[in-house]
Amino acid sequence: MAAKFRVTPYAINDVKPGMEVGRMVLTQDDKVILSDGTLLSESMIEGLKFWKINTVFIKEQIFTEEPEIDFSIPETALQKKFYADYDNTVNILKDSFSNTRFFKEVPLVTLRELANNSIEPLINSNGVINHIHMVRRQDDYTFHHSVNVAVICGVLGKWLGYSGTELKELILAGLLHDVGKTQIPLEILNKPGKLKPEEMEIMRLHTTRGYQLVRDASNIPSGVLYGILQHHERADGTGYPLGVTSDQIHKYAKIIAIADIYDAMTSDRVYHRKATPFAVVEMIVEEMFNKLDPEIGSVFLNNVRDYFVGNIVELSDGRQAEVIYLGQFMASRPIVVTEDREYIDLERNKDLSIVSLVRA
Ligand SMILES: [Fe+2]
Repeated sequence: MAAKFRVTPYAINDVKPGMEVGRMVLTQDDKVILSDGTLLSESMIEGLKFWKINTVFIKEQIFTEEPEIDFSIPETALQKKFYADYDNTVNILKDSFSNTRFFKEVPLVTLRELANNSIEPLINSNGVINHIHMVRRQDDYTFHHSVNVAVICGVLGKWLGYSGTELKELILAGLLHDVGKTQIPLEILNKPGKLKPEEMEIMRLHTTRGYQLVRDASNIPSGVLYGILQHHERADGTGYPLGVTSDQIHKYAKIIAIADIYDAMTSDRVYHRKATPFAVVEMIVEEMFNKLDPEIGSVFLNNVRDYFVGNIVELSDGRQAEVIYLGQFMASRPIVVTEDREYIDLERNKDLSIVSLVRA
C-alpha cells in the first residue's frame, strides 16, 4: 500500500522530539520560528513554548488507506426534543401574533408564560445555538425570528451574567421586539425582494407601533418597552426611529440588536441566501466598535465561537469538512479537516472558503 502523508495540528504538550514540522511556525507578529520539514528537538520544543506557540502542524506518514470520514450523524434524542419544543413555541407565538394583528392587543399573559416556561428551558439545552441553525424555515419568518431572537437574547444574557427577573425580562423583550410588525400590511411584510424606500419607511414603523401596542399594558417592565422601541437604534446615531446614540440606548435594546443581526443574517430569506455564522460573526466584529455595543459584542463573539468547533461546512471546492479550530480573530477562516482527511488552515489557504453550513 502506498505511503501517504498528512499534516495534523498537535497541541504543544503533545509534540515530541523527532516529529517533523508540517507547516511553517510563526510568531504572533509573523516572524518565522521554524520552517516546514524541520525535525523537532527537545530544545526546539522548549523554544516553541517560550514563544507561546500552542499548536504545531506535524507531518505524519500514514501507511494504511483510511476510509473517508463519515460526517453524517443521526439526530440525538435531545435534538429531537429541542426541535419539538421549539416548534410548539413557534406555534403558540404565531397564534398570539395573529390575534394581535386582528385585535390590536398583545396577549401579554400568554407571551410572558411562553418566555418563562417555554423559552427559558430551550436556552438551557446543550448546543442551543447550533440547534437554532438547524431549525430554519423559509416560511413564517417573523415567528421563527422572534423565537430565535428571544433564545439568543437569553443565551447572551446568561453569558453577560444576567439571571432571575432581569433574564426573564430580556427574553420577553426579545420575543416581543418585532411585535409591531403585526401592524405592518402583509403585502409589505411578506414582499419578496427589496422594499421600495416608501415601503421601507412603513416597515420601520414597527418599532414605534410595537412600543404603542405594549406601552399601556399593566406590569410591563420599562426595559421591555425600550427593547421594542430601540432595537434598531445604533450607537453612532445612524439607527431608527429616533437616531439616539449609545448612552441613550437601553442595554436590552443593544443585546436584541446583536441577536437580531445574527439571526436575520444566518437565515435563508426569499431575497437573500443565508450567510454562514462564521461570516456573520465577522460582520458583527466590524460593526461592533461604532454601531453596536463593544462590550456586549465581544462577550457574544468569545462565547459563540465555541459552538462552531465540530460544525460541518461545505468548502468552495465542493468538499465537506469539519471545523476543528478557530483562530483568535478570523472566525470565517478556521482550520478544517475534509472528508478525505486533509487538514486545511483557511487563514493560510485563501483559495478556499466556507460557502455553507451543512450541519451545526
Ligand atoms: Fe425589528
